[in-house]
Amino acid sequence: MDAEISDGDRKLLDLEKRNELAMQSGGVARLAKHKQNGRLTARERLDVLLDPGSFVEMDRFVTHHCTNFGMSDQKILGDGVVTGYGRINGKLVYVASQDFTVFGGSMSRTQANKICKVMDLALKAGAPFVSLNDSGGARIQEGIESLGGYADIFSRNTLSSGVIPQITAIMGPCAGGAVYSPSITDFVFMVKNTSYMFVTGPDVIKTVTHEEVTKEDLGGAITHSQKSGVAHFATEDDKHCLLMIRELMSFLPSNNLDDAPTLPSKDKPNRICEALNKLIPENPKKPYDMLQVITECVDEGYFLEVHKYYAQNIIVGFSRFNGRPVGIVANQPNVLAGCLNIEASRKAARFIRFCDGFNIPIVSFVDVPGFLPGKDQEWNGIITHGAKLLYAYAEATVPKITVITRKAYGGAYIVMGSKLLRSDVNLAYPSAEIAVMGADGAVNIIFREEIAKAKDPQAERAKLTKEYETKFNNPYVSAELGYTDEVIEPAFTRKRIIDSLEMLKNKRDIIPPKKHGNIPL
Ligand code: HXC
Repeated sequence: MDAEISDGDRKLLDLEKRNELAMQSGGVARLAKHKQNGRLTARERLDVLLDPGSFVEMDRFVTHHCTNFGMSDQKILGDGVVTGYGRINGKLVYVASQDFTVFGGSMSRTQANKICKVMDLALKAGAPFVSLNDSGGARIQEGIESLGGYADIFSRNTLSSGVIPQITAIMGPCAGGAVYSPSITDFVFMVKNTSYMFVTGPDVIKTVTHEEVTKEDLGGAITHSQKSGVAHFATEDDKHCLLMIRELMSFLPSNNLDDAPTLPSKDKPNRICEALNKLIPENPKKPYDMLQVITECVDEGYFLEVHKYYAQNIIVGFSRFNGRPVGIVANQPNVLAGCLNIEASRKAARFIRFCDGFNIPIVSFVDVPGFLPGKDQEWNGIITHGAKLLYAYAEATVPKITVITRKAYGGAYIVMGSKLLRSDVNLAYPSAEIAVMGADGAVNIIFREEIAKAKDPQAERAKLTKEYETKFNNPYVSAELGYTDEVIEPAFTRKRIIDSLEMLKNKRDIIPPKKHGNIPL
């Protein structure tokens, strides 16, 4: 039979067989086990992530070189990771998708080499890198060679930071070394109920600290998106996760020298947002939902919220104005009255630095009564963490537009994109109260003696409070000083933001040349 086919055909058949073998991953039984709970395989994940037919695989036939513990007889083509490049909404991206059915997706020296190869290409080509992680950590049979592989990936993550967007999805158990690369990348996605991240797992914890904790509680999607803030997105299942990554990518440029992609918008740029005239409660103590302010004025009401469940007293995420992507940072009066605390400062600072690094203008909506007081905050370093936010705003050179809807008090006023931190356009609603502090607190401090001596201290306090409010708790003192550029009717928020973005389209701003700043970490 063989004699009947040509040498060329035989070679083609041989290639076909090798390709088929590579597609078998860890074998039928492991693939079936993997697919329980709705998990997709490494290749199926790439099919959902990338534009149809756009994936080009590299290094499909790579195998490990480990000879310990009988490993020479256990070689699987591809060695537990599928790598290559493809397109998302037509834009080039490089990808690595770990295959849990091959040695639990664990990191071997050769797996690391494959990942590093596409990371190097991504950096040279100025295209985003997306990593789909599903791995038991360092390949235990290989020992220190595997650690070397991790270090190579961490170095590349670090060098690529701020040059190309890097996104990680945690799509299975990720233990030990498998968790540090994601944390260096810009956005971390997790899948509810099937993904975990921890440096040391429940068993080690039990041995060392005698604490008992489940995998889910220790490092599941809910834990990391609500408690630790390690994950930016908690998604429902594999497919949802991959589609969300595509969605996020639609806001991002390919690299730091590229502009963020503008899309055509059906929403009129001069649309009047009548509802905003009635949204801010007259009683300054009454909360309201800042998300409504955002969705009223952005294109088609669409807001992709980042870190939705973490530090909910501040909102961050992406929207578009007249088709142009912006990063939105907003205090949320509905949670902790919109106070800034450690978590909120860290969350917003990292987001602002991402936007600044990738040429995405920042629009801030401010209603902030101050930094959250308390022993816990002070002892855990609110000074340093709050300074991160201040630093991020001051350092950012992208267009910065700030809208003060209500309270903007004290240090928190300065921090939240004030004119004094090199913001470009500062707008305020007539309901804005731009002051050193709230009237109640101010009066108690500066008129303590007068109030104590008064015949009716309560009436005296109320009178002085009213006087203080009239004098300071409005936007006009700030407007007189030029700290506020314009006091606007809320209905015109969308129009004014779009005018400002257009006016700032060619903004050029530089910071003094330096090796790098020393942000208070
Ligand atoms: C080699 C591994 C592996 C590993 C899993 N496997 N982890 N092989 N090295 N690290 C293999 C298993 O032997 C098994 O092979 C298959 O993958 C599936 O594993 P299971 O245990 O059956 O799966 P599951 O029950 O889902 O549990 C998954 C898991 C568990 C939670 C990830 O496997 C586990 O705890 N693995 C070890 C985690 C770990 O301690 N890693 C090292 C961390 S140290 P078969 O042939 O049966 O299919 C580290 C240091 C780096 O990473 C530090 C750098 C900074």
